Amino acid sequence: MNEPQVEEVVKILAGAGRVAVLTGAGISAESGVPTFRGKDGLWKQYKPETLATPEAFERDPKLVWEWYDWRRGLIAPVEPNAGHRTIAGWESLFGEMAVITQNVDGLHAKAGSRDVIELHGNIWKMRCTREGTVEEVKATPLPRIPPVCPNCGSLFRPHIVWFGESLDPVVLDRAYGLSESCQVMFVIGTSAIVQPAASLPYAAARAGAKIIEVNLEPTPLSPHATFFFQGKAGEILPLLDRQLRKRTRP
Ligand code: APR
Repeated sequence: MNEPQVEEVVKILAGAGRVAVLTGAGISAESGVPTFRGKDGLWKQYKPETLATPEAFERDPKLVWEWYDWRRGLIAPVEPNAGHRTIAGWESLFGEMAVITQNVDGLHAKAGSRDVIELHGNIWKMRCTREGTVEEVKATPLPRIPPVCPNCGSLFRPHIVWFGESLDPVVLDRAYGLSESCQVMFVIGTSAIVQPAASLPYAAARAGAKIIEVNLEPTPLSPHATFFFQGKAGEILPLLDRQLRKRTRP
């Protein structure tokens, strides 16, 4: 690791009160959750237009649910990794700290993070297509595919933002608010191409925040980041954490 860069980042973090962390699929990769665009990524194996769009669900809700049931089965047994745990531990280190995630796996909350903004929804939640009510259902495999609303009998759909759909405006507003008020924004394990999430670091930078990117490889954001750490989040974050705690320990 680039020691002088680590030193500089730790100095900045030691003086930071408001920190935001934007994460993508890469933070969960070391827990065994497939990413989307990586070597064995989901979108290398499956066509998003046949599984993750409102049209696909309209066409074949059973197929779409079989795929989500499979993904739920993959995610259910995995544990948060050192990257998730480090971020959860930072909540007590910084005055204001929030996690803004594109991930639907729920691993930040499982690691103990209390303030998590889920931009793209949550794979453990489903929504009634008629009443709009949202329910958390953890059963894997699902007892019935496609699942239906116990109240009105209509189809449930995954409570996930699909391609071509807008994010919940309340959720997005909060994400922008945090991005524009933070002093430091970490951007971890995202290819930084999917909008509107990919715009958040630029909003933060425009508002004066330092951008610290952690990724296995450079992304379109890297030339604009204040610091870029190339490597695994589960290795780099604990290292930064150790240096930071060494510096801030009374
Ligand atoms: N540590 C750090 N970065 C990693 C690691 C790791 N261990 N493993 C992979 N990465 C990086 C990859 O290099 C890549 O840049 O994580 C990124 C994952 O990118 P994507 O697979 O594109 O996932 P993400 O950016 O979260 O996708 C955004 O697209 O498909 C939609 O809604 C879906 O939320 C998702 C959105």
